[in-house]
Amino acid sequence: MARQGFRRRRRPPDVRALVDQHLGAGDPTGWFEPLYAGAGDDADAVPWAGSVPHPYVTDWLDDPVATPSGSRAVVVGCGLGDDAAELARRGYEVTAFDVSPTAVAWAQRRFADLDISWRVEDVLELPDELLGAFDLVIEVRTVQSLPGVVRDAAMDAIGRLAAPKGVVVVVTLVATDTDIARAWQGPPWVQAPSELAVYRGSGLVRLALEHPEPDEHGAMEVRITWQRPEGTPPTEASIGGPGGLPIHG
Ligand SMILES: C[S@@+](CC[C@H](N)C(=O)[O-])C[C@H]1O[C@@H](n2cnc3c(N)ncnc32)[C@H](O)[C@@H]1O
Repeated sequence: MARQGFRRRRRPPDVRALVDQHLGAGDPTGWFEPLYAGAGDDADAVPWAGSVPHPYVTDWLDDPVATPSGSRAVVVGCGLGDDAAELARRGYEVTAFDVSPTAVAWAQRRFADLDISWRVEDVLELPDELLGAFDLVIEVRTVQSLPGVVRDAAMDAIGRLAAPKGVVVVVTLVATDTDIARAWQGPPWVQAPSELAVYRGSGLVRLALEHPEPDEHGAMEVRITWQRPEGTPPTEASIGGPGGLPIHG
């Protein structure tokens, strides 16, 4: 008989096996849906779910590097929705999307009291209606959970969500140098500092880069604030598909 008050913890998923299976089949994002579905509504079985907004996000909202010029916000790879809920509570008009239908339905149930536009979307195939549509773009730990083959395209797409004057806040794990990033066994796959230049390529300018000292592995979670300059609407993708090769020189 279960002891009163004792919550049985679901066995953590074998993330490595799921990642290997999907990456081996050429599907870099396919492992998220089975992971969420296998969690069976138990957030403890989702390795990254903290059930609270990321502290870098709350801290940014308390003391913004740049004040967004409007209230339209989007959360990329929203997972179980805590960052989206925080934005909605602070008065933003929030769109939140994730590639996993189970995550999106779960987030919607958790925050049914909040007026948030929840969507199932792949950041690698965004509909035109979302491009350039937001004053504030929040990306927390999505790019670092994607393998290198699609990362440039994901960062470029994230940048293109921002309207002119739109502000983009990125929270991601960054290595102190490229060799560390290259040797890193993910997920998450730590980003090389040079990779972040893709956001510039998508038309953004960097306003701030904030981070603690690197850890003993030579990595740190950074918060970068970017902005799309006024009068520069996002145009076509500057990054190609798999391989992240520049297609416009
Ligand atoms: C490491 S989790 C982080 C979730 C959430 N941002 C957080 O910090 O708790 C990465 C999230 O990105 C989502 N994701 C991965 N690839 C995606 C894609 N191509 N488009 C949209 N979401 C994606 C995953 O389903 C997952 O919810």
